[in-house]
Amino acid sequence: MALDALAKKYGTPLYVYSATHIQERFDLYERAFAPVPHLICYAVKANSALAILSLLDKRGAGFDIVSGGELERVLTVNKKAAGRVVFSGVGKTAAEMDLALRAGILSFHVESEGELELLAERAAKLRKRAAVSLRVNPDVFAETHPYISTGLSEHKFGIDIRRARAVYRKVKQHKWLEAKGVSVHIGSQIRAAEPFGAAAERVAALIAELRKDGHAITHMDLGGGLGIEYDAGVEFDPAAQVERYAQALMRAASTVPDITLLVEPGRFVVGQAGALVTRVLYRKKNGTKNFVIVDAGMNDLLRPALYQAHHEIVPVTPRRGAKKLVADVVGPVCETGDFFARDREIESVREGDLLAILDAGAYGVSLSSNYNSRMRPVEVLVRGKRERVIRRRETMKDLLVTEQGWK
Ligand code: LLP
Repeated sequence: MALDALAKKYGTPLYVYSATHIQERFDLYERAFAPVPHLICYAVKANSALAILSLLDKRGAGFDIVSGGELERVLTVNKKAAGRVVFSGVGKTAAEMDLALRAGILSFHVESEGELELLAERAAKLRKRAAVSLRVNPDVFAETHPYISTGLSEHKFGIDIRRARAVYRKVKQHKWLEAKGVSVHIGSQIRAAEPFGAAAERVAALIAELRKDGHAITHMDLGGGLGIEYDAGVEFDPAAQVERYAQALMRAASTVPDITLLVEPGRFVVGQAGALVTRVLYRKKNGTKNFVIVDAGMNDLLRPALYQAHHEIVPVTPRRGAKKLVADVVGPVCETGDFFARDREIESVREGDLLAILDAGAYGVSLSSNYNSRMRPVEVLVRGKRERVIRRRETMKDLLVTEQGWK
């Protein structure tokens, strides 16, 4: 079904995803890493819709999670997928650890010594063995937005790579912990392969040392972060992009024998598979500035407001001979930051027209909120000519159900 028909049927704002696109992107990863033992762990935070998790689970994906909630989602889709789950995050709670220990996940990515102590305590208490990979901070710079760069020692993530050997010695002292791997994640929306290669080399060197220290390291997790191109004016070849990236990682990993390579892509798999479809409510002019006011807001797609991120905006049904217009495309939310584009040249639109905000499959719904008591949009997954509602639009009842004690 075409986007305008979907908008008519389900209303706007509306997220639409392509199942085929998601599969193709995942398969690019599978193919690129085929020469080595590997597991592609989809980063659930990018888009945690059960339908998408299920689709990837069926293709044998592993999952990178950062909360108990994300683990529950994975287990909802397939209880047996627990063995393919890695758990990242700087602030895991005891309850989250217990959940993951009971489920029997593949690896805990431990990000501090305090966390290691708590994990040791919980594992002993539950008498469950925990496979541990320290997430090391490699102090590698990668060009991206400062909010999504994570691999420098000034960031809150990971354990300083220079302290890693000492911390692994501590792992050894705990009966229920087992050092299985080393993990790293240097940031998100990184397009060059070099920083990934540099981080991987540091991890490879550390693994060689750890093995000498007597740790049976079997996994090398090189995180996620491979970027996509949001700007339609810049050429982008996803297959070549993954290939370059995989080569850089495999080259670094080749110095370590008998190792399984893990990667945690999120954005690359789902980002370009989704669009946010919105309707133009009003057009107006303040002074010399044109505004196109649409029915989607920053609560539905936060990226432009939070990172000044660029998303292409195109008319769903282009008008022949339509003039161009320079405008701010803004939402109804009461914030000046509620914009999707500023001073953007777009095709001239009329009230009632539909616009598609592109490349919104990653960190769209997963970063959405109910700000201004707005209900989150419906999500539709398209496969060929068929579509399926994978999450219905929220209702006011959904929003009020948690507020029972107000009287
Ligand atoms: N692994 C870890 C440990 C991560 O922290 C992340 C993302 C990923 C994997 C997946 O990264 P990806 O392949 O999707 O780049 N909200 C931001 C992105 C935040 C990324 C956080 N961590 C955005 O909309 O650009």
